[in-house]
Amino acid sequence: MTTSMVTGATGGIGSAVVRALAGRGDRVIALGRDPGRLAGSAALPGVTARAVDLRDLAALPATLDGVTGLDALVHCAGTAPVAAVADSPAALWEEVLAVNLVAAAELTRLALPALRARRGHAVFVNAAPGVHGVPGWSAYTAAKAGLRELADALRAEEAGNGVRVTSVYPAGTATELLRRTRAAFGRDYDPDACIRPETVAAAIRDVLSLPPDAQVGEVTLHPGP
Ligand SMILES: NC(=O)c1ccc[n+]([C@@H]2O[C@H](COP(=O)([O-])OP(=O)(O)OC[C@H]3O[C@@H](n4cnc5c(N)ncnc54)[C@H](OP(=O)(O)O)[C@@H]3O)[C@@H](O)[C@H]2O)c1
Repeated sequence: MTTSMVTGATGGIGSAVVRALAGRGDRVIALGRDPGRLAGSAALPGVTARAVDLRDLAALPATLDGVTGLDALVHCAGTAPVAAVADSPAALWEEVLAVNLVAAAELTRLALPALRARRGHAVFVNAAPGVHGVPGWSAYTAAKAGLRELADALRAEEAGNGVRVTSVYPAGTATELLRRTRAAFGRDYDPDACIRPETVAAAIRDVLSLPPDAQVGEVTLHPGP
């Protein structure tokens, strides 16, 4: 049976990915830090929930207990606080880099034997296309730039092991993260004008469903016309 692991499974995009992969019959391990909110995912057929705070690197190995083969590891967890550099203490940088980048690197490292065993696929949900040098968002954009470098290096390193790697760049997607971010930037938030999380999840599911003779390096999702 196809086995997939999804981080950020209590979030807008992550929970949609869990539903999409469970819907195609995967056995899904859903990672989130709030056991109560994870319970919704765990109620789906084939889904097992494991609670973990991604800032706690020592807790990451336990998320892979009993997992010897992994077909997909989908990194959806993220945090995106809005603060100017002048108002960003080291603790903010540490949290944003920990959740968006360091935990993704460490979980991938720990999962590599299981991914190699299945010639599996790592997917990194990155940032909106073209987001660079945004005033008030330096920690987030720095973390996502690092995530792109992580994905690109990993793709080259693991090609010989049959592991595929995809970065996904979704534009504004109707989730709590976007609502909060738009509010912090003083911008309007109309969920109906945004991409739906289910559509991002469908793109990820479709990338994961391709036969192994090709890999999609990057997916960029813009709002429909
Ligand atoms: N929404 C957009 O417009 C958009 C656009 C481009 C890229 N993205 C990216 O898409 C990904 C998913 O975002 P989303 O929009 O679905 O946001 P979301 O609904 O806020 O989900 C974020 C997820 O990350 C989890 N998370 C945060 N800190 C964590 C921690 N310390 N330990 C474990 N889990 C933690 C959250 O858990 P809690 O619920 O416990 O906080 C939640 O499950 C993020 O990487 C984001 O950068 C989003």
